[in-house]
Amino acid sequence: MHRRLIVPSVLAAASLLLAIPASAAGFTPGAPGIGDPYYPAYGNGGYDVSHYDLKLKYQPSTDRLDGTATILATATQDLSRFDLDFLLDVSEVRVNGAKASFATSGQHELVVTPAKGLAKGSAVTIVVRYSGVPSTKSAYGFSTWHRTPDGAVAADEPESAWWWFPSNDHPLDKATYDVSVSVPDGTQAISNGVLKAQRSQLGRTTYNWRSDKPQATYLTTLAVGKFDITTGTTEAGVPITNAYSKDLGDNAGAARASVERTGEVADWLSGYFGPYPFNALGGYVPNTDTGYALETQTRPFYSPKQFANGANVSVVVHELAHQWYGDDVSLKGWKDIWINEGFASYAEWLWSESQGDGTAQELADYVYASHPADDAFWTVKPGDPGAANQFDDAVYDRGALAIQALRDKVGDTAFFKILKGWPAEHAYGNASVADFEKYAEQVSGKPLAAFFDTWLFTPSKPAAGAARQARIAHPDARPVAPKSWQRIERAHTVHDH
Ligand code: ARG
Ligand code: ZN
Repeated sequence: MHRRLIVPSVLAAASLLLAIPASAAGFTPGAPGIGDPYYPAYGNGGYDVSHYDLKLKYQPSTDRLDGTATILATATQDLSRFDLDFLLDVSEVRVNGAKASFATSGQHELVVTPAKGLAKGSAVTIVVRYSGVPSTKSAYGFSTWHRTPDGAVAADEPESAWWWFPSNDHPLDKATYDVSVSVPDGTQAISNGVLKAQRSQLGRTTYNWRSDKPQATYLTTLAVGKFDITTGTTEAGVPITNAYSKDLGDNAGAARASVERTGEVADWLSGYFGPYPFNALGGYVPNTDTGYALETQTRPFYSPKQFANGANVSVVVHELAHQWYGDDVSLKGWKDIWINEGFASYAEWLWSESQGDGTAQELADYVYASHPADDAFWTVKPGDPGAANQFDDAVYDRGALAIQALRDKVGDTAFFKILKGWPAEHAYGNASVADFEKYAEQVSGKPLAAFFDTWLFTPSKPAAGAARQARIAHPDARPVAPKSWQRIERAHTVHDH
């Protein structure tokens, strides 16, 4: 009786709440970070993006970028305001058509206060107009925007979006993309996915790229410059578009001799990982002086330095393996980086094996034997390396060693079932190292907690089993590197900011 009497007043209060302004009780600000312990300010809380439509105009001579970003999102709480991660100068923000107020905060937060609160579950359209010279902007003292002699490149990890589009910058919030870029005639603009249109008018050309499967912000790329474009198709029928800067100098031949094998490598990888998950493929090599490569979705970025000593198919294998391990299945938090780098590195070992350049087992034994127990290499835990060691050699090499150890432990049949099953299990989603452990246990039917603890979460050198001890007969002798090793090492050359 008593209880029933309370009901009408609760309902009245609830309906009142819907009518009152954003600042009122119940509508609260979205968090300035998505909750990643490695990078607390990265990403944002309170909304989830489904699509970015970017209309950009870029001038290579001045590095000026003008843009309008239309972001389709859903509020995940009753929102009074929310953040985007961004560094350029904003002139206007509209939310659901109405002008919103905005301010900057912290290192890279654009704080948007809509005129009205946004009810949980409702669709939200955010339009941000902006401009700026990206090379003049930095956060935490660094910039990942790379100007080139004839353009610019945005391709880095985990930060690259802040310099060219406002976003919820974390892999947990994947979205589809339309990227339209206007550049001077004679200059090309490269991005992810399929080129839907290319139009020239009044001295400028606009390129419309579409990436229509969920894509993490750091996997969204932009390259402007003078490129030679090549096209093809994989055996499975996926269209390939590659782009090579006209300014690669001595590295041009080796770059093409590597990246032109993209279709063949993707077909080969699909034998291990299942069907290629996207509807476009390729690679691009701009005239940048950075040293690394990046698995930008559908179209990896390669530094010309990767090809300085001749063709390097290893790096192509690595970046294409990420299309399954990293892009299709993205990490839940940056601490899960082993799922990306361990498996992309292990794919290089499988390629080496298929080319007769050293088996995965030989490469594993080499990594094991070439780092003595007191080497700092073993202090990095691939399963939780810490933000400072996110791209440490150990994440790649000890990470791949752990995967070979898993193969030994569960046997080839279960191992290759896991390798192929994982991308299907989490297609277009996110997963963690803990999810992988559970999956490997489920498929192999073996308890693996202690195994993963040793190989991924112990800051010291795991003991060699009897079989490995027998293989690496003289523990003091200098181990001999398999033929593929130099290329594999180069594939993860990182020049960090
Ligand atoms: N995921 C990239 C790769 O190994 C690593 C890029 C790291 N680069 C950097 N500047 N932090 O393919
Ligand atoms: Zn990688």
